[in-house]
Amino acid sequence: MTDRYAVIGNPVAHSKSPQIHAAFARATGQDIAYERLLAPRDGFAAAVRAFAAAGGRGLNVTLPFKQEAFALAATLTERARIAGAVNTLRFDADGPLGDNTDGVGVTRDLVQNLRVALRGADVLVLGAGGATRGIVAPLLAEAPRTLTIANRTVERAYALAADFAHLADVRAASAAALEDRRFDVVIHATSAGVRGEEALSWPDRLFAPGALAYDLAYAEGPTDFLRWAAARGAARCADGLGMLVEQAAESFRLWRGVRPDTRAVLALLRR
Ligand code: ATR
Repeated sequence: MTDRYAVIGNPVAHSKSPQIHAAFARATGQDIAYERLLAPRDGFAAAVRAFAAAGGRGLNVTLPFKQEAFALAATLTERARIAGAVNTLRFDADGPLGDNTDGVGVTRDLVQNLRVALRGADVLVLGAGGATRGIVAPLLAEAPRTLTIANRTVERAYALAADFAHLADVRAASAAALEDRRFDVVIHATSAGVRGEEALSWPDRLFAPGALAYDLAYAEGPTDFLRWAAARGAARCADGLGMLVEQAAESFRLWRGVRPDTRAVLALLRR
């Protein structure tokens, strides 16, 4: 019998995950079906239970449910625990296992696909919400020279940096405090673009020579942040499509025990 998986979210109609996992399944010879599951905002847990009861084997979880998925998991991987959020559920005999593959998706995309040297780099993350929490530990594992978190509400940046202080010296900054600093990698992790707000009040001279601007979000054309960054001297720009494919590959591996090759799928999506 074909094993069933899905991406659950609200909204979810735009998700590319079904296309990605179908391509992974073809390439690895795995017999799976993967669908989109729209859950009501107040009906996440019920939708998950119904899907599992109907024989579903696992779920990818997207906005706005990653924290609810964290609460719902019976067991958590270490990286999900650190992130405080779950983007992958696997329905095991002893209950749902919660994992978070977003962070490793970002670093894999940066290091392996984009060939960015994170080791020794000055890295800036814009935003201090759930998305940032998920990527800090994987970024630190790549040994950047500095990692700075900047946020509109600076208190949240300080709180987040403090949560990771046992791993490394994570710095926190307000937008104003970034004025005299330059970074090799600037990662946009706010929800500003997602909600369609144009409120990019970061300093104009963030980008060191050769710097990469990276947006966790992706869109058909360049995102607001990437257009903003390109106009301010970012030498390279990349959106989160590569991260999406990499986090999917890591979820696929958790479910199926095989890691699909991501290059062909990424090339397919870029076309
Ligand atoms: P997510 O899980 O997507 O990170 P979140 O936890 O709600 O969502 O966090 C949203 C992040 O985007 C926060 O860093 C938020 O900044 P504040 O803490 O100051 O609210 C940031 N954000 C949202 N809209 C923004 C905007 N228009 N300008 C700048 N930052 C914004």
